[in-house]
Amino acid sequence: MSRRQLRLGAFLYTPGSHSAGWRHPDAVPETDMDFAWYLRMAQTAERGLIDTVFFQDTAAVNGSANLDGAGAIRPRVSRQVYLEPVSLIAALAAVTTHIGLISTATTTYSQPYDLARRFATIDHISGGRAGWNLVTSQIEDEAGNFGAERHMDHALRYERAEEFWDVVTALWDSWEDGALLRDKASGVYIDGDRLHFQHHEGRHFKVRGPLNLPRTPQGRPVVSEAGSSEAGKRLAARTADLVFTAQTVLEEGRAFRDEVRALATGFGRDPDDVKILPGLMTIVGRTEEEAQAKLAALQSLISDEAAMRLLARLCGDLDIHAFDPDGPLPPLPPSNAAKARQQLIVDLARKEGLSIRQVARYLGTSLGHQLQVGTPAQIADRMQEWLEEGACDGFNLMFPHFPRPLEYFVELVVPELQRRGIYRTGYEGRTLRENLGIPVPANRYTRTGANSSGGGTSV
Ligand SMILES: Cc1cc2nc3c(=O)[nH]c(=O)nc-3n(C[C@H](O)[C@H](O)[C@H](O)COP(=O)(O)O)c2cc1C
Repeated sequence: MSRRQLRLGAFLYTPGSHSAGWRHPDAVPETDMDFAWYLRMAQTAERGLIDTVFFQDTAAVNGSANLDGAGAIRPRVSRQVYLEPVSLIAALAAVTTHIGLISTATTTYSQPYDLARRFATIDHISGGRAGWNLVTSQIEDEAGNFGAERHMDHALRYERAEEFWDVVTALWDSWEDGALLRDKASGVYIDGDRLHFQHHEGRHFKVRGPLNLPRTPQGRPVVSEAGSSEAGKRLAARTADLVFTAQTVLEEGRAFRDEVRALATGFGRDPDDVKILPGLMTIVGRTEEEAQAKLAALQSLISDEAAMRLLARLCGDLDIHAFDPDGPLPPLPPSNAAKARQQLIVDLARKEGLSIRQVARYLGTSLGHQLQVGTPAQIADRMQEWLEEGACDGFNLMFPHFPRPLEYFVELVVPELQRRGIYRTGYEGRTLRENLGIPVPANRYTRTGANSSGGGTSV
C-alpha cells in the first residue's frame, strides 16, 4: 500500500469530551466507573482497527486546590470520576488482543522505578501493547495530595520529566534480550552478563537498578506526550513516539508537525518515528442535516456556568467571573499549567473576535480541539486533507459522550477511510509499535556493552 496511512487513537475521556455530552439522552455517564462499559468501548475501538485507546489522568478531584471561603471544594470541572487508568489498562489487556493501551502517568508526582515496573508489567501482560502518556501534571490540584504546598514550576517540571524519562528507559533496557535463561540443564536462571545496573544520580533521582523484570515484548512500551510549550516540544522531539496536540487550523498543524520533526532530527532521530496526532471530535450523521441536528442538541445542553468553569481553569489565577461575559477576553496571566493551550485559545479569541461567553462555549464543545460535523464522506475529506497536506500522522479521536458516538465512527467513518486507501483493513502486527510502524529501540547496553553487573548468576 503506497498511500500514507492514518494512525488513530480513541481518547476514552469518560463520560465525554463535550462538557454537557453526558446529559444527552443517548449518553451513558456510567461509562466512567463501570468496567463492562470500558470493555465494550475498547472492543468497539478494536473492531474499528484503531491503533490505541488512550486514558487521561489527574490524581486529584478537579478544583480541590481551590477552596471557597467556607472550605468547600469549588469544582471547576464537574466531570471527574473514573477508574485509575494504569490499573484499568492492565484489566483491558486481558480482554483485548490487538489494540494499544495507553495510560497517563505523571513524572511530577511519581517515582521512575515504580512507574517503569508497572508499564513493563502491562507490556508483558498485553503481549506488547502498553503505552505511557508522559505528563508533567497540568493543574495545581495534585500538589496537595503528594506532600507539596504548591505545584512545581513549569520549567522545573520539564527538567524533572527529562531526567525521569532517562531513568525509566534505562531501567527498561536493564535486561538485554536473552538475559532470562531459566536453563534447567545448567541450573542458571539469569545471565548476569546481560543484566545491567543504572547507578543513576541526577538532580531529581537516585536509582541503582536494575529493573526486577526482563525486557518487554516491545523492547520498551510506547511513550506519548501532549506538551506544546517550547519545553514540551523539546521533550517530545527527544523522547516521544506519539504526540497528542490541539491545533485546529491545517497550516498550524503542519507548522507544529514540521517543527517537532525538525527538532527530532536534531536529536538524531528519524522524524518518521514520531507520530503527531491532533485531537479531533467528530459528530457524524447519515446526512449533513442529521449531523447538524446532533450538534444543536448537544449545544442546547451546555450551561454558561459549566462552560465558564472550563474557561476559568485555563485562566489560572485570574478571576474570569469578575469580567463582563459578553466583553472581550482580557489578557491572561502567564500560566503555570498549559502554556501552549492557553495561547491557542487567546489567539483564537482575538482572531475571531469572540466574547468571554463564546470562548467558554467553544471550550465546552470540544475542549478547544478540532470539531468536524457532517457525513462520513465530509469527515473523511477533512481527515484525508490533513494527512496528505502533512499536518498530521493521524488523529486522537474525541467523542462528545459514550458509547454511541464511538460506535458511529467505527460503523460509518472507518469504512469510508478504508475505501480511500488511507486506513488499514487489518492490524499489521501484534504489538502497538508494529501497528504504529515505529521500531523497537536498540538496547543501550547491547550497543555499548557498558555497565555490566559483572557475571553474577543466580541459580
Ligand atoms: C489530548 C491531551 C490529553 C492530555 N492529558 C493529560 C492528562 O491526562 N493529565 C495531565 O496532567 N495533562 C494532560 N494533558 C496536558 C499535557 O500533558 C500538557 O501538560 C499540557 O498540554 C501543557 O503542556 P505545555 O505547557 O508544554 O503546553 C493533555 C493534553 C492533551 C492535548
